[in-house]
Amino acid sequence: MLVTLEGLDGSGKSTVWEALHDTYPDAVFTHEPTESWYGDAVNRAIEDDDADPLATLFLFTADHADHLSSVVRPALDDGELVISDRYSDSRFAYQAASLTDSDLRRPLEYIRGIHTAFSRSPDATIYLDIDPETAAARSGATNKFEQAGYLAQVRSNYERLIEAEPERFVRIDATQSPEEVIDAVELALERLLDSDTSGE
Ligand code: TYD
Repeated sequence: MLVTLEGLDGSGKSTVWEALHDTYPDAVFTHEPTESWYGDAVNRAIEDDDADPLATLFLFTADHADHLSSVVRPALDDGELVISDRYSDSRFAYQAASLTDSDLRRPLEYIRGIHTAFSRSPDATIYLDIDPETAAARSGATNKFEQAGYLAQVRSNYERLIEAEPERFVRIDATQSPEEVIDAVELALERLLDSDTSGE
């Protein structure tokens, strides 16, 4: 089973992902951007204010393709539980927001289309929901993706994704304390794994 964690910068995703290591010691924990050289290229694009948004989309997508073939698919083939801190929805939400003023008519649909050809959808996605102002303040607004105006667009893209596939997403209020958020995520995961093993 593939479970992904999504949310705006500063939503506490990475803290939750760390905490889950103790709860699910046998799971395969992974993240995007990855630590491969593809991930290094992605990190250069994140830090470069002048990086071309379309080129950045393809760098992120290249990193995802490698992540799928080298980590995610082999682990799923071995029957492992895979928990990924960010995955394809980050591209749909963030790069669609970066590409709103581009020549692409429907960036979100375009990016989804690229993935459909080769990717593997998550079985469940835990969405840590916070408002863009809190997100920007918590993340320190240190790069172009962490600005409140941009994050507002990212959030509305996440909302579109949830509306399209409500059964895949579990929304958690990430304005709560870290302990409360971790508890809520653990409960959600427990339910998801129970329903998976009971064949629902
Ligand atoms: P990440 O390392 O998860 O940062 P954080 O832990 O602060 O959330 O991701 C780095 C940045 O890259 C983050 O601002 C979100 C962005 N991002 C995208 O724009 N598209 C993507 O596909 C991914 C995976 C991340």
